Amino acid sequence: MHLNTSASSLFSNKLEEACARIDECLGGIFSGLPRHPLTDAIRYACSGGKRMRGFFVLESAALFDFSSDAAVRAAAAIECMHAYSIVHDDLPCMDDDDIRRGMPTVHVKWDEATAVLVGSALQALSFEILCDERTSPNAEIRSALAGSLAQAAGASGMALGQAMDLEAETSGNSWSLDRISELQTRKTGKLISWSCQAGPILAGCDPEPLSKYADAVGSAYQIADDLLDVVGDPSEVGKPLRKDAKANKATFVSALGARKASQHADELVRTAISALDPFSDKAEVLREAARYAVKRRR
Ligand code: IPE
Ligand code: IPE
Ligand code: MG
Ligand code: MG
Ligand code: MG
Repeated sequence: MHLNTSASSLFSNKLEEACARIDECLGGIFSGLPRHPLTDAIRYACSGGKRMRGFFVLESAALFDFSSDAAVRAAAAIECMHAYSIVHDDLPCMDDDDIRRGMPTVHVKWDEATAVLVGSALQALSFEILCDERTSPNAEIRSALAGSLAQAAGASGMALGQAMDLEAETSGNSWSLDRISELQTRKTGKLISWSCQAGPILAGCDPEPLSKYADAVGSAYQIADDLLDVVGDPSEVGKPLRKDAKANKATFVSALGARKASQHADELVRTAISALDPFSDKAEVLREAARYAVKRRR
């Protein structure tokens, strides 16, 4: 119990510190953009958020003794990609949500065209950050980071997962658990998985030893999001809830019910934690991050 409490407070402190470092880095990057309402909307779209993906970059890097500001840049890059994905996810043609991170969504505060362009600009910006020599002086590492992020975000990753998510809405609850799992791995798992493997890539190491952890945490993270839609407090979560069933979303909750979906998420967390065995005590913060992925209330 004592050990868990200290792991949990170590995790909270590290997450807070990661948020501050990522926000500072993003602030510097945005201050170099032209003064224009599009830049204001980009800055707005990237504000708030738990910064879990950026945190996974920083902690996976720390596991490989890599803690320089270059890791913060890679963390900022994935937060730009993630912000793009949610700005588009909230559009009327997708999930049609008015609130995100406790604030009006970009298309509500500005307009739909601005939201589309914010997404386009943030996706490009994430690659611009990764391809800069300040992220790594080593061209092979920059190329590995950018290439793997392109795969995670694109036509076989997040974008495909989002397409499957919309497809499922109109296909009458007929999706198998395997297919739902594939959808979720793509729409959410891939970007989280990239985040957990970016650290070893930055450090010039093989990311494979973290792949099992990365995949399990990515899947658990979306199941937790689907559970929050059912049991969460909207003011705490900062976005509209109780929408997935009405929209006929295919989730582990729709297929299994909340109790079994939650058990499945817990199982994934156990898988993630045991995949860190080779790293012994050094991986304690990542173990706690896996627990947080499912016990979070926002
Ligand atoms: C929300 O992700 C969208 C999903 C893919 C589940 P987060 O819950 O990490 O959102 P922020 O970044 O903290 O707002
Ligand atoms: C979002 O999944 C996944 C991506 C943004 C890629 P959801 O649609 O469930 O996320 P929320 O609930 O709107 O944050
Ligand atoms: Mg969605
Ligand atoms: Mg949504
Ligand atoms: Mg959701």
